[in-house]
Amino acid sequence: MQNILVTGGAGFIGSNFVRYMLENYNYKIFNFDKLTYAGNLENLTDIENHSNYKFIKGDICDKDVVESTIKDNNIDTIINFAAESHVDRSILGSREFVVTNVLGTQVLLDAAKNLQLEKYLQVSTDEVYGSLPEDKKEIKFTEQTPLTTNSPYSASKASADLLCNAYYHTHKLPILITRCSNNYGPYQFPEKLIPLMIAKALDGENLPVYGDGKNVRDWLYVEDHCSGIATVLEKGKIGEVYNIGGNNEWYNIDIVKLILEKLGKGEEQISYVKDRPGHDRRYAIDSSKIMSELGWAPKYQFPEGIEKTIKWYIDNEPWWRKVMSGEYLKYFDKNYSSKVK
Ligand code: NAD
Ligand code: DAU
Repeated sequence: MQNILVTGGAGFIGSNFVRYMLENYNYKIFNFDKLTYAGNLENLTDIENHSNYKFIKGDICDKDVVESTIKDNNIDTIINFAAESHVDRSILGSREFVVTNVLGTQVLLDAAKNLQLEKYLQVSTDEVYGSLPEDKKEIKFTEQTPLTTNSPYSASKASADLLCNAYYHTHKLPILITRCSNNYGPYQFPEKLIPLMIAKALDGENLPVYGDGKNVRDWLYVEDHCSGIATVLEKGKIGEVYNIGGNNEWYNIDIVKLILEKLGKGEEQISYVKDRPGHDRRYAIDSSKIMSELGWAPKYQFPEGIEKTIKWYIDNEPWWRKVMSGEYLKYFDKNYSSKVK
């Protein structure tokens, strides 16, 4: 394994992963990204001239471009981060989610099969397991939990996972699947809970909390997700699924209150709003398989991770202001309207 095609490497987790790999390994990283509203090359300015890094603008749904990119660059491994990733957007319109998340994955799997790549790693999500009861804290998602999807986003991600599994069984394609819980950290698009709340708190705006604020998410610092993927890539058993998570469940409302407290702001900024349709109540991930079989463990505990994250958004205000105003789009020739609400 030497030349890795990272799809979606200009997004939140993908850009953190590209940086993590360049800092910790000696692979050549080819970042293949369509630059949708969520892709931002400003996430990568510090490493854009690294000798082991190359950016290629492209769409994972475009078979010819995917295959020529693999051939031209002697790619031996694909790690697929590229996706439409925001649940709220999938409720407003699901087509793009099916196109990129399902058909795009199928194009990549076919290319990996036809060109006989060494490995294909699918970056999936704990959302494919559906929702857990909030009163049974001992129950968590394991790799055996049946796939039960409730949003168009999670349905599209689960479909992609099933395709990966089918290519493994039918074509003996060397696939690996990771399923991670909610990530937080630098460069997260401020449509997602934590960066949105930090930005709104700093601006003295209302912080929109869906429903009663008692939905539970299991938060992992993004660098720990990156190290988990790298571990699975290196040591994972072909054909297997690995959950990744930090054993760190929080009610949404408590996260929001914590952010306000850390920023010295008052709880009067909290505004309870209409709930997300089909809103999953609780996610909680059991990571014992990757920990016991592959020796992975998260490096960051939540108090340190959230401190680093809030500091990053304070220190990098121009980054998120450009994203929230849509100003960053003009640099990258995009057609998307992405002004954040
Ligand atoms: P993101 O929305 O920040 O980034 C997605 C990236 O994919 C963007 O750079 C975008 O331009 C690119 N992209 C979209 N469509 C494309 C296409 N057709 N061709 C090429 N590139 C395309 O997403 P993220 O939060 O970084 O998530 C990355 C992956 O991790 C996704 O597959 C997501 O399902 C998964 N995941 C996310 C989380 C989380 O908490 N954010 C948790 C678990 C798993
Ligand atoms: O669990 C992994 C998933 O986590 C990933 O697969 C997805 O790509 C990622 O977007 C994330 O999905 P969520 O829907 O959990 O994340 P989001 O940040 O959108 O919302 C987190 C919780 O906060 C959820 O319960 C909804 C709530 N929320 C969100 C927003 C944006 C609010 O209450 N108010 C908001 O404004």
